[in-house]
Amino acid sequence: MTVSNQRIPLSSRTVGDIAATMPGATGIFRRFKLDFCCGGDIALVDAARQGGVDVAEVEHALNSLGELGSAIPVPQQTGDLIDHILNRYHETHRRELPELIKLGRKVEAVHSDHPQVPHGLADSLQQMLGVLEVHMKKEELILFPAMRRKSAGGLDVPIVQMRHDHDDHGEHLRKLESITGNFTLPEGACRSWQALYTGSAKLANDLMEHIHLENNVLFPRYEGPSQG
Ligand SMILES: [Fe+2]
Ligand SMILES: [Fe+2]
Repeated sequence: MTVSNQRIPLSSRTVGDIAATMPGATGIFRRFKLDFCCGGDIALVDAARQGGVDVAEVEHALNSLGELGSAIPVPQQTGDLIDHILNRYHETHRRELPELIKLGRKVEAVHSDHPQVPHGLADSLQQMLGVLEVHMKKEELILFPAMRRKSAGGLDVPIVQMRHDHDDHGEHLRKLESITGNFTLPEGACRSWQALYTGSAKLANDLMEHIHLENNVLFPRYEGPSQG
């Protein structure tokens, strides 16, 4: 990724470059059936024309990813903070992880002989998705509704379990970093490999921010004596 790339209008950048540098873009290209890998060396505007899709629609979808990924002020009020965690993190993990698993399977299959191929990455991501889904469901169905009903304190027992789950997520992240050498691409990596590591690094950042907001901002409000 180069800084200058970010100043060129999206429609003039190549599909492959956008896929490699904008986390989540590959999912949008799949949705519009635009080839971002083998046929990715053409400008988005040309790819859209060839594919018979409206380039403005594709750009709009890509720009929405940017907004989701940008720094949003963290709400202070508990109900708003929970909504923020659900929209910005839970939904993002659910949207992005399946795409990363697909990319991982593809890269591991196509480059199986490459010395730096991330063996086991797709399986690791798949396992993470399963574990995260169970964890997020516990928060969504039990813990967060209980928090919305109370003003403070009284939820130490479920919070201990959630903090324990977060430690497990941290272990999974360390495994991802180890398999990918801290998301370091080999020389000449293809667009899919670039997109896989860009997206996995974003997942790691998002998950760390997500856990930080719960462990350090939300959960402490509900530890200690119940206050109604
Ligand atoms: Fe969460
Ligand atoms: Fe959590």
